[in-house]
Amino acid sequence: MASSSYKFPTESCDMHSLSAVRKLTDTEIQKLEKDKTLLSEFKQNKLELEAQKNWDLFYKRNTTKFFKDRNWTTREFEELCSFDTVPKEKDGHMKVILEVGCGVGNFIWPLLKENPFLYFHACDFSKRAIDFVKENEHYDETRCHAFVCDITKDNLTDEVMANSVDLVTMIFVLSAIHPDKMEAALSNICKVLKPGGCLLFRDYGLYDYAMLRFAPGHKLSENFYVRQDGTRAYYFTTEKLTSLMASSGFVTAQSSCDYIQRETVNKKEGLCVPRIFVQGKFTKLKDVIQTESIPNVEMTASDTSIKPS
Ligand SMILES: C[S@@+](CC[C@H](N)C(=O)[O-])C[C@H]1O[C@@H](n2cnc3c(N)ncnc32)[C@H](O)[C@@H]1O
Repeated sequence: MASSSYKFPTESCDMHSLSAVRKLTDTEIQKLEKDKTLLSEFKQNKLELEAQKNWDLFYKRNTTKFFKDRNWTTREFEELCSFDTVPKEKDGHMKVILEVGCGVGNFIWPLLKENPFLYFHACDFSKRAIDFVKENEHYDETRCHAFVCDITKDNLTDEVMANSVDLVTMIFVLSAIHPDKMEAALSNICKVLKPGGCLLFRDYGLYDYAMLRFAPGHKLSENFYVRQDGTRAYYFTTEKLTSLMASSGFVTAQSSCDYIQRETVNKKEGLCVPRIFVQGKFTKLKDVIQTESIPNVEMTASDTSIKPS
């Protein structure tokens, strides 16, 4: 496999596209430039074939203890609070959210508790993760529908009505998918979103601390790496993400996408580390005609779990 000819931003670099990303030190630049050897095609294919198994083993090892509840989501995405806590209509209309790659449900539990008028579809390709979601004390079938789905190949419309979802959320999920399959995954998601509905997105950004920590032998392709446990991580530029969304049915004009910088404390190593994420809000085209199109109906508490006939 050919090594990448990617250039890293330096003092003299005028790559506008990367201006928002943190400036690398000379040591970091050298480290990234030296890391040119990609994993063999055979090993890469094996990782792709075993992606589902590797995440399932991740949840076998870590159970529900790895990720913390995402208590920051209403602060970061105003769309999640713009649903009134009192429904506009008195007959109990619910707002429907699809949480893609839900893991063990850390994104949905705080929101379910906060807002009684939200209904969640939640999917993940790890059966073990979905079992943990269903075993959680907050799992309530009148408000949640968790199911196993590989979004790169299983049709989401087998479980969720086309054009029926108000919001889709994807938190640190697309980065786990092979870049060649990202567009298929996003197009799949776009089908269940209502026209004009939104995808809320957060994932790893270029030059995130974790990207700079990979030792040689973990690189799969440009900005794409494999961890020790076989799970993979892609580090996005805002340009890459925006262009992916544009080719998957989202309108860039009504969307936003930015780098955000955070510091997280690595207690084990006693370090405060710089994290870089990409965060965006992507709107589905209003006049997109989907083949499976079903009239856009408001759902009530009693019919949110109806599956397409
Ligand atoms: C980093 S975890 C994030 C979990 C969750 N979104 C959260 O924020 O806590 C990534 C998740 O994406 C899931 N995933 C990866 N590839 C997937 C695919 N092709 N289809 C469905 N889920 C996938 C993994 O099983 C894992 O649970």
